[in-house]
Amino acid sequence: MTPEPIIRPMVGADLPAILTIEEATYHEPWTEGIFRDCLRVGYTGRVLEVASATGEAAGLAGYGLLSAAAGECHILNLCTAPDQRGRGVGRLLLRALLAEGRLAGAEQAFLEVRPSNAAALGLYQAEGFETVGVREGYYPAEAGREDAWVLRRELVGRNPGG
Ligand SMILES: CC(C)(COP(=O)(O)OP(=O)(O)OC[C@H]1O[C@@H](n2cnc3c(N)ncnc32)[C@H](O)[C@@H]1OP(=O)(O)O)[C@@H](O)C(=O)NCCC(=O)NCCS
Repeated sequence: MTPEPIIRPMVGADLPAILTIEEATYHEPWTEGIFRDCLRVGYTGRVLEVASATGEAAGLAGYGLLSAAAGECHILNLCTAPDQRGRGVGRLLLRALLAEGRLAGAEQAFLEVRPSNAAALGLYQAEGFETVGVREGYYPAEAGREDAWVLRRELVGRNPGG
């Protein structure tokens, strides 16, 4: 049988698996302390795991974090395991986070992304985000700094799942 993906709240016990994915992905990965701080202050963390038909957990396929306040929400982190990319995990997690933002009263969602990150840009644009600004030199890069594009999506009047 095809394993069913399960999206559930991120908890402290997920951090070792999250850090493994984080460190395999980024030159400057978030530390355990940053994730713990996010959970402590009440940001919305979600993980996606794939369980077998018998309920056996098969590890984390991805995770994301979102903050919501004052009618806005921000995607702070969204990452899928390198061996799970291109299977729809990122889209499921993004939609789950946006649904939580909407429940928290957010009317718009924002995020920052490197313009060189074709996979992330492809996902966000496919999910209705539009570029609304540039933060110059926002990210560290191998040769100096790289800009961030600021992307926005309306949540009101739209189904976050579509
Ligand atoms: C960006 C990321 C989260 C996407 O997750 P994913 O699980 O691979 O993406 P999905 O399989 O859900 O793809 C959803 C859509 O994203 C787009 N997409 C995904 N990979 C892409 C790629 N390599 N190039 C262009 N578009 C891509 C497509 O529109 C895709 O839809 P389609 O499959 O119907 O064409 C993942 O590549 C990742 O973790 N990257 C490293 C961390 C990162 O860059 N996070 C974002 C920081 S802002």
